[in-house]
Amino acid sequence: MKKIIITGGAGFIGSHVVRRFVKNYPHYHIINLDKLTYAGNLANLRDIEHNSNYRFVKGDIVDIEFINKLFEAEKPDAIIHLAAESHVDRSISNPLDFVMTNVVGTVNLLNTARHHWRGNYDKTRFYHVSTDEVYGSLGETGMFTEQTAYDPHSPYSASKAGSDHFVRAYHDTYGLNTVISNCSNNYGSYHFPEKLIPLAINNIKQNKPVPVYGKGENVRDWLWVEDHARAIDLIFHKAAAGSTYNIGGHNEWKNIDLIKLLCRILDRKLGRVAGESEKLITFVTDRAGHDLRYAIDATKLKQELGWVPSITFEEGLEKTVDWYLANEDWLKDVTSGHYQQYYQEQYANR
Ligand code: NAD
Ligand code: TYD
Repeated sequence: MKKIIITGGAGFIGSHVVRRFVKNYPHYHIINLDKLTYAGNLANLRDIEHNSNYRFVKGDIVDIEFINKLFEAEKPDAIIHLAAESHVDRSISNPLDFVMTNVVGTVNLLNTARHHWRGNYDKTRFYHVSTDEVYGSLGETGMFTEQTAYDPHSPYSASKAGSDHFVRAYHDTYGLNTVISNCSNNYGSYHFPEKLIPLAINNIKQNKPVPVYGKGENVRDWLWVEDHARAIDLIFHKAAAGSTYNIGGHNEWKNIDLIKLLCRILDRKLGRVAGESEKLITFVTDRAGHDLRYAIDATKLKQELGWVPSITFEEGLEKTVDWYLANEDWLKDVTSGHYQQYYQEQYANR
């Protein structure tokens, strides 16, 4: 029997990881530990919330006493750590929130695990889910490998880089059984609509301006979230202690080309005249410190563990747009209240 705490399980990627583990491993106990910030939503897990091998615990990873008591009571064998503040624009407005959750929260989990698992490091595992943004920005060519030096530029990526360094330090100093993966931009269902793809789908659908930062020349490498969850599953079970894997689908898109593709898909699905949705594209002031290009080299993951993406970007985007069109209530719920206020502040003066 494995008992796994998955942190941030009510968020976008976390909910896909929790669903996958609950369904694929009925003999594991999955505890979803989440603070339920604006980004955490238990509606993301409605379909599995009554499964007997699943439980939700509300709590803050920064809270030392709470995390210690949780370890004492549950005696977990492993952690898959996804809880984080995750949006670059918010990190520019509120960097300290990112330091607290992403750095202090991660170190608190590491430290608690170090004490509770002492003598059992060979039977336990701390899996830290990170991002390609720690590597910084690429020029026109090249790719991030596991050997690329860290060079973060935003408070978000700096806080994730800090947390990665602590994870490695806990492996090298104390011998904790850690694994890190650094993944490229994800897209798919349950993605909070402050991020580019769900925001664009939502705005196009509602005939609202689609804000494109700068000239839209920045490049991101997009991966379907369920392929990320599958990679996490594989790495969790197979990776050597202390190892790192990059995860990505060789799928680079300039923001402007991606938005135009979404416009074409939505013109078709909403029965609009071709070219109608593109008129919504609105160029706005660029993000401060905006990284030009991310691209992941996931050769190690392919060669060592046999992982490759299961679907093409075109298939994934179709599925994703269909999901947002079919789940209007979910979108309405998460875009009411605080989201409206955030949207006003974020885009009013751009
Ligand atoms: P998200 O913002 O959708 O979800 C984060 C979750 O963490 C939420 O459920 C939130 O309630 C929870 N949380 C936040 N602070 C917490 C705290 N102090 N204590 C407990 N729970 C807390 O994020 P996401 O996009 O699903 O990203 C998940 C992880 O994957 C993050 O660590 C992120 O850095 C990493 N990542 C994301 C991407 C991407 O494209 N979204 C790519 C690579 C890596
Ligand atoms: P985002 O989804 O915030 O992910 P990240 O910054 O972590 O890569 O943004 C993806 C890209 O889209 C990034 O280059 C910034 C850009 N972007 C826009 O052009 N307009 C928007 O409204 C948003 C949210 C992002």
